[in-house]
Amino acid sequence: MTDLDASLVRGWWHLLCHRRELPAPGDYLRFETVVGDIAVFNDGRDLIAFDNRCPHRGARLYDGASGNRPASCRYHGWTHANGVMIIPQREKFDGCDLTTARLNQYRTDWCGDFLFVGIAPQAALAEQLGEAAGVLENISFNIDACVDVNRYDYECRWPLAIENALEPHHISLVHPETLATLELQDGENRFLGVNSVWEAPVGNARLRRRLESLRRFFRIDHGYEGYFSLYLFPFTMLSSTYGYSYSLQHFFPAPAPDTPRRTSFSSRLLTVPAVDERAASMLRTFIDSTVQVNRRVFEEDHEVCKRLPADSWSTAPLRYPSVDEIKISHFRESCRQHLAAQAPEASA
Ligand code: FES
Ligand SMILES: [Fe+2]
Repeated sequence: MTDLDASLVRGWWHLLCHRRELPAPGDYLRFETVVGDIAVFNDGRDLIAFDNRCPHRGARLYDGASGNRPASCRYHGWTHANGVMIIPQREKFDGCDLTTARLNQYRTDWCGDFLFVGIAPQAALAEQLGEAAGVLENISFNIDACVDVNRYDYECRWPLAIENALEPHHISLVHPETLATLELQDGENRFLGVNSVWEAPVGNARLRRRLESLRRFFRIDHGYEGYFSLYLFPFTMLSSTYGYSYSLQHFFPAPAPDTPRRTSFSSRLLTVPAVDERAASMLRTFIDSTVQVNRRVFEEDHEVCKRLPADSWSTAPLRYPSVDEIKISHFRESCRQHLAAQAPEASA
């Protein structure tokens, strides 16, 4: 199982962040995965993704899920800034070639204003995203900030957390006072290669009217009028109600030795611009309550996911699939295809 996890982290592009999340030099995000950290930071010139290790003797540069500090090692002070590695006491390194001393950077690419990172991606980003690229671009041009970072481990294997996020079948029992109050209708699934979209109208007429009445406060040119959820294979979800904010979630396989019982979960709330200052202040309560409700929804999901033993997951088709679980079948098919593509390499 670990081979699947590591090969998925290494072999696929991952949407890490929006350009506006790291506007200032030193702004950073850190993700923990089974193959080690993936950190991304603003070096004053570019957004740099790397393995969060110092090239000198391997110390971790960044801690926590996010923050602002220079990419400067606390051990002996090696610092990366503006594309350059600054090394104190250079004269003491006579016997080695410091021109090769640099961060172990990962590949990056953009889809609109979303930054993707690839350690050893098997395909070009455009190929991996397929039709999902257009959907993502439109969303990215409507986002202007991140207002909440929520990071903890799910006590379950990551594909079980993903499958939970992919099916609305559990909403009434698991989220009776949060997500279920929207009374989401069946909606429509669209499959875009390995990625998928679910769009569902809000069935609760009172909430629908309230949500519609808020549209005039937002400066957006895109947003599904209902509940929208985009799954990017393998570890990323992006969901929204009416396009008024976007919840970006990651479910990475956690670092060894905790794997496979843990999922390195994070969610961030990305907001869209208000039409003016007055609208922004009126929307503050709405955004605050969105943050709180989202956090509660993820805790409810985590509670139920804890009940799933690691061996309750496999890549085999579900034995009793409901129509609400069709995206799980699609996800498992993508996992099987990934493993089949790995097989020749494994036996080589
Ligand atoms: S390990 Fe980072 S400067 Fe020495
Ligand atoms: Fe849920």
